[in-house]
Amino acid sequence: MTSSLVVKNLSISVPSSKGRVAVVDNVSFEIPAGKKVGMVGESGSGKSLTAYALMRLIKNPVSIDGGEIFLGGREILGLSPKDFRLLRGNEISMIYQDPMSALNPIMKVGQQIIESIQLHSPVSKAIARKTAIELLASVGIPEPESRIDSYPFEMSGGMLQRVVIAIALSGEPQVLIADEATTALDVTTQDRVLTLIDKLAAERGLSVLLITHDLGVAAQFSDEIMVMYAGKLVENGSVNQIFSNPAHPYTKALLDSRCDYTIDVNKPINSIAGQPPRPDNRPTGCVFSPRCAHVQDQCKTSVPPLTSSQGRLTACFRADELFQVGSAN
Ligand SMILES: Nc1ncnc2c1ncn2[C@@H]1O[C@H](COP(=O)(O)OP(=O)(O)OP(=O)(O)O)[C@@H](O)[C@H]1O
Ligand SMILES: [Mg+2]
Repeated sequence: MTSSLVVKNLSISVPSSKGRVAVVDNVSFEIPAGKKVGMVGESGSGKSLTAYALMRLIKNPVSIDGGEIFLGGREILGLSPKDFRLLRGNEISMIYQDPMSALNPIMKVGQQIIESIQLHSPVSKAIARKTAIELLASVGIPEPESRIDSYPFEMSGGMLQRVVIAIALSGEPQVLIADEATTALDVTTQDRVLTLIDKLAAERGLSVLLITHDLGVAAQFSDEIMVMYAGKLVENGSVNQIFSNPAHPYTKALLDSRCDYTIDVNKPINSIAGQPPRPDNRPTGCVFSPRCAHVQDQCKTSVPPLTSSQGRLTACFRADELFQVGSAN
C-alpha cells in the first residue's frame, strides 16, 4: 500500500535559557493511504508541533531543524511558500481544536465555505454555493439550504465543528489532521463528529492523523497508534498491539493511568509517578528512564532507537524481554 504521508527524522526546536532545545526529536512515521492513525501522549510531548510542521505552520521562534515530509511522494518542507499554498487544503488539511478560532465570527458560514472552495478550484460562485450546500449536508447539518446563511453565533458548538470539517474537506484533501478536534465537545457530539470523520474517511479514502489525549477515542477511531513522550515517538503499532499488549513501559503506564469508571469507583486512579521532563531538562539516555519502573544502567546513558519488536516499533532496550515475559506493568 502506498503512503500518503511519510515523515522522516523530523526535528523541531524552541529557544530556552539553555539555548535551543528539541521538542520534536528525530520523529519518523508513515500514514498509508486510507489509514487512520491516532497520536497520543501527555501534554507537551510534541503532538501539535508535529501537526503544525505537516501544515508548514511552524513560526519563529519555533523552528524545524531537520527532516523531510513527503506528501503523495513529494517532499514539502523544501517547497516555496507559494507552491505549498497550492497543497494546503488541497492535499493536506487540518481541523483545529477550537472551531471559533478557525471561523470569521462576522461572516456567514456558507460564505466561508464558498471562499475556501474557490481558493482551491476556479469555479463560479453559484457552483461553489451548490458544493457548499452538499458539503454541509455530507457533514450532517440539517436543512443545509437555509443553514448556509447562518452566522457562526447562530450555531451550536457541534454544528460549528461540522462546518470546520466541511471547510477542511472543501479542497478534497488526501490527508486530514484532527488536533484535539473533538476534545471541547460533549461526549455525544464528540461521538457523532468522530463517526462522521470515520465515514468521510472511508468514502473518500482519506488518510487521517487524529491527535488526542483520550486513549479511548484513539482506540475506537484508529487503525494504528503512535505514542509520543517528551518529543520522541516511543511506540507505533496497530490498535490491538498497543492496547492489548504494549511493549514500551511508558505506553503501559499510560494505559494503566486510564480512568475506567466501569471497574471500581472507589479504587484510586493510577498515575505515572513524576512529571515529563521540561524541554530544557531532558535526561541523557532514554527520556522516560527517570520515571520507568524497569530502568537499567544502559537506559541512563544510551538512547534506545525505535526498532521493530514483536511486529511493532518500540524505543525500549528491554521491549523484547519485557514483552515476552509479559511482566512490565
Ligand atoms: N511557540 C512556542 N515557544 C516555545 N515553546 C513552545 C512553543 N510552542 C510549543 N512549545 C513547547 O514545545 C513542546 C511541545 O508542544 P506541543 O504543543 O507540540 O505539545 P502537545 O503534545 O501538543 O501538548 P498538548 O497535549 O498540551 O496539546 C512543549 O514543551 C511546549 O511548551
Ligand atoms: Mg497540542
